[in-house]
Amino acid sequence: MNVQQLLAQFQSQGLESCFHGRHIQPQIYADLNGRNWGLQDYLARGGYQALRTILGLNGEAAWTQDQVIACVKESGLRGRGGAGFPTGLKWSFMPRQFNGQKYLVCNSDEGEPGTCKDRDILEYNPHIVIEGMAIAAYAMGITVGYNYIHGEIFQTYERFEVALQEARAAGYLGQRIHGSDFSFELYAAHGFGAYICGEETALLESLEGKKGQPRFKPPFPASFGVYGKPTTINNTETFAAVPWIIRNGGAAYLACGKPNNGGTKIFSVSGDVVLPGNYEIPMGTPFSKLLELAGGVQGGKLKAVIPGGSSAPVLPASIMMDITMDYDAIAKAGSMLGSGAVIVLNDTRCMVKSLQRLSAFYMHESCGQCTPCREGTGWLSRMVDRIEQGHGKPSDMDLLDSVAENIMGRTICALGDAAAMPVRGMLKHFRAEFEHHIKHKTCMVTAAVTAGEHHG
Ligand SMILES: Cc1cc2nc3c(=O)[nH]c(=O)nc-3n(C[C@H](O)[C@H](O)[C@H](O)COP(=O)(O)O)c2cc1C
Ligand code: SF4
Repeated sequence: MNVQQLLAQFQSQGLESCFHGRHIQPQIYADLNGRNWGLQDYLARGGYQALRTILGLNGEAAWTQDQVIACVKESGLRGRGGAGFPTGLKWSFMPRQFNGQKYLVCNSDEGEPGTCKDRDILEYNPHIVIEGMAIAAYAMGITVGYNYIHGEIFQTYERFEVALQEARAAGYLGQRIHGSDFSFELYAAHGFGAYICGEETALLESLEGKKGQPRFKPPFPASFGVYGKPTTINNTETFAAVPWIIRNGGAAYLACGKPNNGGTKIFSVSGDVVLPGNYEIPMGTPFSKLLELAGGVQGGKLKAVIPGGSSAPVLPASIMMDITMDYDAIAKAGSMLGSGAVIVLNDTRCMVKSLQRLSAFYMHESCGQCTPCREGTGWLSRMVDRIEQGHGKPSDMDLLDSVAENIMGRTICALGDAAAMPVRGMLKHFRAEFEHHIKHKTCMVTAAVTAGEHHG
């Protein structure tokens, strides 16, 4: 069956984006079919065995907290929320000796344009997140957790609530889990739909019922988190990776990826591809393979790729076709893996127009606390706007770069950098398109498409 037929079959069944069967060695999406999300199915897939193992419920000695953290460190798991921070190391920052309440938070805000993996995990394998969080809570001596779920996905929120009820009824959440000394209460929290609420400290503010604006750091959440108490926050996919690691060992997880880039990663592939959707593949898989899984480029030749969500600098096709999909390779190429949202652009796409769209987004989402971000995102957006509309000035090229440079590193949170990086990436690789817009007041790409010169 070719990809077009597959796509037709896929759509006619009304299936969601992760059931195309085109994953490579999946761990989180393994054996899912869209219907088997409930507890009994999860147990049949070996679910909650990792939690049982560390609690000593499978006839062997319980693991120590240090053992769990050491296993996650060995796995090379890096946070899937965007920054790629080593998860085991983050867990070791939790002051376990602290006597008061400590909290665990799952970041399911998933607002980065292009990213749609966490909602699929929560809907089609919610217990894997609950189990991952319970293991993390055990490792850090935490008894209360929250999953902060993006405000606009009610269906996902409701699904997660049902899974929580199932887990509580089966004794996998609550007091003295399965007769052990470990207690963990987990609650779902409904977000309010702002992109900035995905930034961890803005999320904490929002969780406390306040306006979702980032906090100045330090102090970091590990010492001052929810209600001012020590808190560890990880992405949904990060927690979902944990049960596999405990069951199969840190070394096996690491071996599945590349050194320093362990395990599988779910990439949300969108844009000009035949089969947009979520693809779980080992870290270090060539981009060309991922593109092939997604059915190849649609409507033209590959021009560029935004490899890690809208804030990642764009990379031209020539670079992308030579790199592997992992944190280190993409960083070396001058961009970032970020949240794993891969936005594919074909050669009919105008880069000025693309940047116009991205810059408008960041201007809209700036929370307004810091001057460089509040004012700078507006300047960037208005400048790109006028270049696109044929009113740009030659000095705009340097001005764009200088405004972007002056935002970076000068703000409370990384949204400022997220707004600036796409600008710098576009200017670095596609400067000629901006210059053409300014000089000729027209778009060279649109002109080529109209003249039939593109390669669709
Ligand atoms: C503007 C902004 C938006 C963010 N949005 C998200 C998000 O939607 N989901 C997420 O997990 N992390 C997001 N992050 C990253 C979080 O601040 C944090 O690093 C992450 O949740 C930590 O989890 P991890 O270590 O498992 O990646 C965002 C960061 C910034 C600056
Ligand atoms: S960088 Fe932007 S979004 Fe972040 S705190 Fe400052 S103004 Fe708000």
